Amino acid sequence: MHHSDSTHFHVAPGGCLRGRLRVPGDKSISHRAVMLGALAEGSTEITGFLEGADSLATLQAFRRLGVDIQGPQAGRVLIQGRGLKGLQPPPCPLDLGNSGTSMRLLCGLLAGQGFPVTLIGDASLSARPMRRVIDPLGRMGASITASERGTAPLHIHPVTGLSGIDYVMPVASAQVKSSLLLAGLYAAGETCVTEPAPTRDHTERMLRGFGYEVQCSDKRVCVRGGGRLQGGSIDVPADISSAAFFLVGASLAPGSEVMLEHVGVNPTRTGVIDILRLMGGDIELLNQRNAGGEPVVDIRVRSAPLHGIEIPEHLVPLAIDEFPALFIAAACAEGETRLTGAEELRVKESDRIQVMAEGLWELGITAEPRSDGILIQGGRLGSGAIDSHGDHRVAMAFAMAALVSEGEIRIRDCVNVGTSFPGFVAQAGGLGLQIQEV
Ligand code: S3P
Repeated sequence: MHHSDSTHFHVAPGGCLRGRLRVPGDKSISHRAVMLGALAEGSTEITGFLEGADSLATLQAFRRLGVDIQGPQAGRVLIQGRGLKGLQPPPCPLDLGNSGTSMRLLCGLLAGQGFPVTLIGDASLSARPMRRVIDPLGRMGASITASERGTAPLHIHPVTGLSGIDYVMPVASAQVKSSLLLAGLYAAGETCVTEPAPTRDHTERMLRGFGYEVQCSDKRVCVRGGGRLQGGSIDVPADISSAAFFLVGASLAPGSEVMLEHVGVNPTRTGVIDILRLMGGDIELLNQRNAGGEPVVDIRVRSAPLHGIEIPEHLVPLAIDEFPALFIAAACAEGETRLTGAEELRVKESDRIQVMAEGLWELGITAEPRSDGILIQGGRLGSGAIDSHGDHRVAMAFAMAALVSEGEIRIRDCVNVGTSFPGFVAQAGGLGLQIQEV
């Protein structure tokens, strides 16, 4: 789909971040808005949609499934919902690029459609574990085949029907939970999912927003099949996972002050704020309001001296995508930071424990990867050449590191920054990061 080694960042050392910024729309919410809009009755208008490669892959998949979608144009998407039973067999395999969320959620959503579909992705996505959705969906009656290693391409075979299950998830995964709930819309009886720790709940919130009944109690969430979704309008807040790079960069670079506008602060997503505050970060949440069933604020962050901490394990799922940025914060903090209970980081867009450790070593930082986390000793960042391994968040995290490094940081293989944060270079440059795309 793209040449994964064609874009590099060169970031000159020093400077600070100052100004106001609205980062692009939330990736998780953008995916779900397209999915539920397509399955709803009536039309759905999305504003603030993330025009990144991942959410565009979802959008394109639904066009191939016969859904009339206009846009995106300046973040606006208009979907003519086809109802729960209105999707059509696609003419070709659905290419989901780099997007794990698209692939795992579509497995559930498509498992009960009654027509065959093949899901494919890029090299990174084709190495990620899919049995975590295939196995429980199989228990609901779905028939999905994968490679021997349990990876894409995935073939979804038609079945006569699905039945609800009561599933206790072995890993805290919002993608698995969401996949089963979407399959549950098509299943006979009730589908219940219990999570070992709270994970992002955008699917549950949005289902309710579309008028679908969802029962939640403690760590268990249930839906009944056979209901209807009613289309409407969704205002997607700015993605806290994209804001995270500026939370870290502005915290680190003396003299920084940034106002991040209209950021989604769903309590299942705010671990990065909690962790940075525990490290000494100066972060204020202002103008609390609501957008499309999600809490939204403006965030003011100012530079502050950070110190190392033991990251509380209960915060891990609530900051799961923000660890690349947080590792940079830890590398610049006074003392040691210890992360445990985060083995999931090894199966993200890259092995984020190993890839981040290698990058930190290159900059002269002492970091000890563990099976389920890492130990990082704060120090002075030098300069060097980092391989992002095609991981968008690794690339953006190391770009921020240059604010406090002694020399230039060069980052290889940055094209996938466009999966979640189109316009990163321009926005970061506008606030003061001395970044060049080459
Ligand atoms: C996501 C869930 C998380 C997260 C991913 C987006 C979602 O994955 O890392 O970027 O939108 O549901 P897991 O469910 O694998 O933890």
